[in-house]
Amino acid sequence: MNVAMLGSGFIARFYADALVAQRAKDKLISVYSRNLDKAKKFADDYQLSFYTDDMDLLVSRPDVDLVVISLPNNLHEAAVAACAKAKKHVLCTKPLGRNAAEAKRMLDMVEEAGIMGGYLEDLCYTPKFLKSAKAIRDGSIGKVLWAKSREAHPGPHSDWFWDAEQSGGGAMVDLGCHCVEIARNFIGKEIRPLEVMCWTATQVHPIQAEDSAIGLIKYANGAMGQFEVSWCFRGGMDLRDEVMGTEGTIWLNNFLRTGFEMFSTGKGGYVAEKAESSSGWLFPVGDEVHELGYTNMFTDMFNSIENKTEPLESFYDGYIVNAILDAAYASAKTGRWEPVQIEGWRGNTTEDNGPATASYDDDHYLIKKEILPSGEHKLILKHKVTGEVTVREIG
Ligand SMILES: NC(=O)c1ccc[n+]([C@@H]2O[C@H](COP(=O)([O-])OP(=O)(O)OC[C@H]3O[C@@H](n4cnc5c(N)ncnc54)[C@H](O)[C@@H]3O)[C@@H](O)[C@H]2O)c1
Repeated sequence: MNVAMLGSGFIARFYADALVAQRAKDKLISVYSRNLDKAKKFADDYQLSFYTDDMDLLVSRPDVDLVVISLPNNLHEAAVAACAKAKKHVLCTKPLGRNAAEAKRMLDMVEEAGIMGGYLEDLCYTPKFLKSAKAIRDGSIGKVLWAKSREAHPGPHSDWFWDAEQSGGGAMVDLGCHCVEIARNFIGKEIRPLEVMCWTATQVHPIQAEDSAIGLIKYANGAMGQFEVSWCFRGGMDLRDEVMGTEGTIWLNNFLRTGFEMFSTGKGGYVAEKAESSSGWLFPVGDEVHELGYTNMFTDMFNSIENKTEPLESFYDGYIVNAILDAAYASAKTGRWEPVQIEGWRGNTTEDNGPATASYDDDHYLIKKEILPSGEHKLILKHKVTGEVTVREIG
């Protein structure tokens, strides 16, 4: 497949690094940037055969099979429209839209055009994430009761992020989109998100939008999703997830503590995304492109186009994320739980949301099992009919 890139900024370079990193039959061949000099520089850096400052021209060129959107959030919809018009498969960076209405229009456009809309949610493709998600699907931690995802860093690198009109909000739409989708994957994408309670604040920066937010998302099976985001965090990029299940727990530290620690007096350069210093004790990331999920993400997208299957992350998922974030923004205003409004829900319509209680035997529920320092096993049981709580000591 021949790939065209829209945009030549920060994420366009991460994506291009992933696309050119391995020997592959899929090739990045061309780039659009509104600034022709930047388009030329990008084309030179990645040895692309064509560059332009005309987006429609690039998208409609016959040698382009697939378009990657790496533009600011307010330009995603127009770029998707150009791809739908030219009937070119399209992969769009996160967030899909500035809000759910925009995202839904993009979803409808690709489905009506019969093209694939892949949602570039890289953090749902990291090696650690994929292995955790498989462990959960295999039952390793039982039913997921609570999934928390945190992303915090010292703030984004371009002007448009800080303008809510162009970005659609602040840290919540920028980083919350990752966290919402990570937690949603852990809980189960077939489970409907019902309502959201959220706190936002502008704690540091002179902007209208929020630079910090915390949200809770109630799911139809009784599970709780939680996101924590901030543009005020000092010390790099904090990417952590915690999942609590009836049979186990998963903790992921994706960036600042990956087992690679280095001390430098400061003679070097780039350390890792959003690292604030290149001296002292540092936390580099071995293969950033892979560890942030970009490599697995493009492989899944290319395979899906070739096999005509849904990628792990599609425009539909991007739309659900935007719908959850819309409810979060509404809740931050009202201070109440706000419903997640979804048009055309495609997951489960009924769910058992009762407690995930385990039976001990025909007559009793098991409340707790504990091994004491003496080696004795202690069981706390509840009678299913009388409700009496008793202790049984074994051994
Ligand atoms: N991990 C991730 O998935 C991740 C990380 C960073 C950014 N992003 C997303 O990627 C997109 C781009 O972010 P970025 O960090 O690359 O930003 P950036 O500012 O570094 O690059 C944006 C690109 O869009 C171009 N551009 C800006 N305004 C334009 C306009 N009015 N018309 C045409 N082109 C314009 C710029 O010239 C540049 O090429 C955003 O949607 C952002 O949320 C995703």
